[in-house]
Amino acid sequence: MMGEDGYFDERVAARYDESAAELFEPAVVDPAVDVLAELAGSGRALELGLGTGRIALPLAQRGVPVHGIELSKAMAAKLREKPGGDEIGVTIGDFATATVDGTFSVAYVVFNTIMNLTTQTAQVACFGNVAAHLEPGGCFVVEVLVPDLRRLPPGDTSRVFDASDTHWGIDEYDVANQGLVSHHFELVDGRFELVSMPFRYAWPAELDLMAELAAMRLRDRWSGWQREPFTSESRQHVSVWEKPSV
Ligand SMILES: C[S@@+](CC[C@H](N)C(=O)[O-])C[C@H]1O[C@@H](n2cnc3c(N)ncnc32)[C@H](O)[C@@H]1O
Repeated sequence: MMGEDGYFDERVAARYDESAAELFEPAVVDPAVDVLAELAGSGRALELGLGTGRIALPLAQRGVPVHGIELSKAMAAKLREKPGGDEIGVTIGDFATATVDGTFSVAYVVFNTIMNLTTQTAQVACFGNVAAHLEPGGCFVVEVLVPDLRRLPPGDTSRVFDASDTHWGIDEYDVANQGLVSHHFELVDGRFELVSMPFRYAWPAELDLMAELAAMRLRDRWSGWQREPFTSESRQHVSVWEKPSV
């Protein structure tokens, strides 16, 4: 049963930083923060799906005022416990629709979190909501995977995306609906625990169309935060759409 914290409830929040430890490494975080700080300039940054502050905290440490929209009070509480956590503004709500006072020079949603919106309607609404919060000339940055369907043989529905002594990850596809459920089997205190979460995947071109519907245009698309070229073999993309400066 899903409660008001969504899929990132107390149990998930308690283990989030440990489970995603590799993503907290400076080698992963710093290039993302570099790009976001540059786009923020002297303005403010809005994070969608703030989580426990993996990106927001180091971005704020660079002097960028950061505000986040986050559904899960449990995740936001973990952020608050950290040094500097009380300097990040938090709005508890759904980032497809929640509103925040003021405007931002950059808004961003990382680590596949745009896919947590499981309908096209919600994803389109999210682009519209972001555009409404951006200053003219402001940017929306999305870090998200490229759907892995080239690795899914016809007739199969599941793909193992991680296999280690402590974690097995299996994606279960519903291709007709662009849906997938990620199943995480994680070793906790000597027993494997299962956490499953639904996602909606979208191709880069569909996201471009959502941006266009929100009157934004593609400015950059890289395969990573070091601005590596995006190619046919890229497994993820970092895309930057711009709200025209009138
Ligand atoms: C994978 S975590 C990413 C957290 C953080 N951005 C990071 O990179 O570590 C996804 C976060 O988005 C939040 N989230 C998911 N759907 C949301 C929604 N519709 N509105 C607001 N927050 C949402 C979850 O509660 C969770 O904290």
